[in-house]
Amino acid sequence: MFSWKKIKKPFFVLAPMADISTWPFRSICKEMGADVVFTPMVSSDAICHNFKKTKEIIFFKKAEQPVIVQVFGYDPKIMSEAVSIIDKKLKPAGIDINMGCPAVKITGNESGSALLRDKKRALEIVKAVRKTYSGQLSVKLRLGWSQFDTLDFIKDLEKLKVDALTIHGRTVKQGFTGQADWSKINQVAKAVNIPVIGNGDIVSWEQAYEKLKNTNLSGIMIGRGALGNPWIFKAIKKKKNIKVSKKELAKIIKEQTKRYILYTGEKRAMLEMRKHYAKYFRGFEGAQELRQKAVLINSLKSLEKILKMI
Ligand SMILES: Cc1cc2nc3c(=O)[nH]c(=O)nc-3n(C[C@H](O)[C@H](O)[C@H](O)COP(=O)(O)O)c2cc1C
Repeated sequence: MFSWKKIKKPFFVLAPMADISTWPFRSICKEMGADVVFTPMVSSDAICHNFKKTKEIIFFKKAEQPVIVQVFGYDPKIMSEAVSIIDKKLKPAGIDINMGCPAVKITGNESGSALLRDKKRALEIVKAVRKTYSGQLSVKLRLGWSQFDTLDFIKDLEKLKVDALTIHGRTVKQGFTGQADWSKINQVAKAVNIPVIGNGDIVSWEQAYEKLKNTNLSGIMIGRGALGNPWIFKAIKKKKNIKVSKKELAKIIKEQTKRYILYTGEKRAMLEMRKHYAKYFRGFEGAQELRQKAVLINSLKSLEKILKMI
């Protein structure tokens, strides 16, 4: 049974990323060495009202475990119902509550990071979920809404028996601008006795270990740094840069595409994969030309042709 407390530390986690950390990419990050992987966020309303259609977002295979399914919402009752449904039907290693998404379509419904400006509601949600869900429950949040004001809040989360926290070192107002503030992430980690995972701007194995030095952090979460570079998890595990040959690069791109085709069918897969191609085609001679060509890839066959040019 997975437990945030018992997992070997430090651990390294693939971040939840909408439309990105679905099965095709997530399973590859797992195979590259990610210790824990998060699904993209899924709406508690959608889970309760149309599980069949929504489950695609959080679909995972056993080999990927520990998988953490992330849920967002605003209504304590619906959130706890959604978590029970997910737990019963999919049995993920844990559930994470999203209190970090700054997208207006989410905060406009008082969900995601909007909970950081209505902490009373946020705590009611956690209380309701904790009452019905006995598995590993975590919360992913930012430093605060417009300033760093979550130190008391995280202590309240700990009192409600949340098992782990991920802190993205920016305020909601910052969006993705500026730099993640790791000194504030460390203040959070020192304030509670549950595992805290630091998150924000990690793009190399050296940075990952650097951020862990002299802190109470239990793990590091990586999002954008894994895009086009799932090898970052291998580098972290081996504590050295991984030289990816062009042959290996082509192999992974093809493998991820094949998984996407299994996942959604070829037409949608090719559209979704374009953003991944744009990230994979970087840092080598001719990459720019390949990126331009990537927007025209519309089948596995046309991908294979382009991969021959790497
Ligand atoms: C395309 C994209 C989608 C994201 N979707 C989610 C999400 O569904 N849930 C969530 O908690 N955070 C989401 N995030 C935020 C990341 O999990 C992470 O906190 C953020 O990108 C900072 O980490 P990084 O600098 O390692 O990318 C998303 C970020 C990106 C770039």
